[in-house]
Amino acid sequence: MASHAPLSMSSVGLGAFLLLLVAGCGNEPRITDVDALAPAFDALSASTDAIDLGKAIFFDTDLSLNANQSCASCHDPQWGFTGPLPAINAHGSVYEGSVTGAFGNRKPPSAAYATQSPILHWTRQGGGLWLGGNFWDGRATGEILGNPAADQAQGPFLNPREQALADKACVVYFVSVSTYSGLFRSVWGDAISTVDFGADPASTCRAGGTLSLSAAGRAIVDQAYDQIGLTIASYEASQEVNAFTSKFDAYLRHQARLTRVEKQGLSLFKGKGKCSRCHSVNGRDPLLTDYSYDNLGVPANPENPALISEGFIDPGLGGFLEDEDEWGKVKVPTLRNVDKRPTPDTKSYMHNGVFRSLEQVVHFYNTRDVLSVCGPDVSRDDAQWGVTCWPPPEVEQNVNRSELGDLGLSPQEEAALVVFLKTLSDGWGS
Ligand code: HEC
Ligand code: HEC
Repeated sequence: MASHAPLSMSSVGLGAFLLLLVAGCGNEPRITDVDALAPAFDALSASTDAIDLGKAIFFDTDLSLNANQSCASCHDPQWGFTGPLPAINAHGSVYEGSVTGAFGNRKPPSAAYATQSPILHWTRQGGGLWLGGNFWDGRATGEILGNPAADQAQGPFLNPREQALADKACVVYFVSVSTYSGLFRSVWGDAISTVDFGADPASTCRAGGTLSLSAAGRAIVDQAYDQIGLTIASYEASQEVNAFTSKFDAYLRHQARLTRVEKQGLSLFKGKGKCSRCHSVNGRDPLLTDYSYDNLGVPANPENPALISEGFIDPGLGGFLEDEDEWGKVKVPTLRNVDKRPTPDTKSYMHNGVFRSLEQVVHFYNTRDVLSVCGPDVSRDDAQWGVTCWPPPEVEQNVNRSELGDLGLSPQEEAALVVFLKTLSDGWGS
């Protein structure tokens, strides 16, 4: 399942794309013909102006309640487009939003390669399963704007635990007065300049208020907010974010050799370790995920503030679909850039960041069902934790027992798998 449309595919011009979007704007339904929109999204993604604009928005801290947080605050390119704060990664792993003390309940996954995920759908393959979407639980399906990452990009600005603005109109207003507003108008036209945002929109927005607009102004705001989502996704779909420049990519293109141990790791990844059953390595530019969902029986992160304060147990896809059969399953993440970081400081792994090293992750796959269950007195910082015992799964239902848990890998084989995972960082050799 590693197929994906080439990034440069572009048969439909930006004009046609605009027409489609305008045709789809208004109240309900906004854009119904998702299949027709997919090539148009590719056209937008081929426009360097749109990509530059999307990047400017991605890094703009003004688009948050306290002007202190951008998308990049939780998705830093130097950290493989995931969380850049070692002190957070080593503990709760969930990030604070614009408002002090307002934390999310999951670890930020990589925002790179996310546009390649198909629209969430059911397939008969493999006895029937869900594929695609964005977020650990797939709830950014892609059905609104035609790409899961575009749907996703509309969430954070208004999420009280993230950028925390109270009104789409605030996001659009700050874009309209930004240093890059000229670029916005050249990609999307002048409509946003015609909106009357009222007397002092900045103060209202920074105080957490909503703006009162005319019906016509509101319609332009709704359209501009869709355009912002699509534009961010066009950056996320760009070559810069989907670089395919890891050592592994160079190896696949016959431009680099893997060391003996890296090669051993790759063959374990495809063979005895069973990793490629979910983290696909087929094809020329493999994505290291098949966008399916699984419950690996990962333990809860005892330092997740949502667990501590609300007893939050993550239902994953099952919670979104309200389906017991999917309870506890989360999306298979790409392993691209899984080790990427600018310093040797801590990154964390899995939807809740419970694991703090790749060694721990691989040891878990290898021994989950072999070691004893840790008693409640064993803390995550104890030497036994994850070495001679594992805590019980966060979610007991639907744990995958057939593809992991007792792989029979030797310590040297575990180490070789980790060495291979380190070949997946973009920017190799540069
Ligand atoms: C406060 C931290 C934070 C901020 C700010 C933030 N994100 Fe995220 N992001 C997360 C977390 C946490 C998740 C996973 C949430 C979930 O699965 O429920 C996530 C998920 C994603 C995903 C899904 C990736 C996948 O493979 O499913 C993408 C893409 C993404 N964010 C992009 C963005 C963009 C674009 C912005 C700015 C508009 C942004 N994020 C702002 C924390 C953040
Ligand atoms: C049955 C499907 C499946 C198999 C087989 C599998 N994985 Fe995973 N992998 C997942 C899922 C699902 C997650 C996310 C789990 C979670 O967050 O609870 C994941 C997460 C990871 C992560 C953490 C990534 C991150 O960004 O947090 C790493 C590293 C990883 N897998 C490596 C491997 C390796 C190495 C193997 C082989 C030894 C392997 N996986 C086998 C499905 C699989």
